Amino acid sequence: MGRLRNQIVGKRWLAPGMVQMEVYAPEIAERARPGQFFIVRVEEGGERIPLTLADWGPDEGTITLVVQVVGVTTAKLSRRNVGDRLADVVGPLGNPSKIGKFGRVACVGGGVGVAPIYPIARALKEAGNEVVCIIGARTEGLLFWKERFSFADQVLVTTDDGSYGRKGFVTDALGELLESGQRVDLVYAIGPVVMMRAVSELTREHGIRTIVSLNPIMVDGTGMCGACRVTVGGRKRFACVDGPDPEQPPLPLVHGRTHASRGPWIGRVQP
Ligand code: FES
Repeated sequence: MGRLRNQIVGKRWLAPGMVQMEVYAPEIAERARPGQFFIVRVEEGGERIPLTLADWGPDEGTITLVVQVVGVTTAKLSRRNVGDRLADVVGPLGNPSKIGKFGRVACVGGGVGVAPIYPIARALKEAGNEVVCIIGARTEGLLFWKERFSFADQVLVTTDDGSYGRKGFVTDALGELLESGQRVDLVYAIGPVVMMRAVSELTREHGIRTIVSLNPIMVDGTGMCGACRVTVGGRKRFACVDGPDPEQPPLPLVHGRTHASRGPWIGRVQP
């Protein structure tokens, strides 16, 4: 029997409470760009949850999600198995990350943020940038996908407890990189809000342009409901249609849509 739309065709536990799934969604796989997301309903009448496109295969028609079990819906999703079908998978949504020739780019992924930073870092490398990837987790058992970053010019791995790589946070490794005097032209950071804030504060001191990805609660994902409202530079924005990444109109694009009226997207999630 052939594959059915929204069917789970692959599943792997990456770490306790962290699962990777491949879902058959050929239309999304064909259009997906780094930085975009999709919205899933596990079952009819269920909650809609936004998940970043961690990877995709246009030839296979699959998209890859990495989800951390943090609540009822993510727990339900994690219990689904290969062969099960999800009620809805809608996407790709949001603006793609702007992939240009920036020079030397540091891509920082913390915790489950390692998954969404991966396609961005890969695309930046393919676009001719020198890419330094800094990935981290609380402990070695929660680290995943480090082998996927072998394309990068440099990979720095941190764990909070020192069980693998450098002991400390991704921001410590980034700080050392910047203090060492190595040139960094742009920083992408995806992870917990506190981590992205710490990265932004660090790079502000060095005057380095920094892009973070905002992923607040979403409902429709199309700019209609206002659930994902955030404040960016003192202005109200909707993460789903104005983000998730910042806009960089002055920079040359390799692919991606521009919305020239939208400003830099470095902000904080509204409480
Ligand atoms: S999720 Fe509704 S406006 Fe963004």
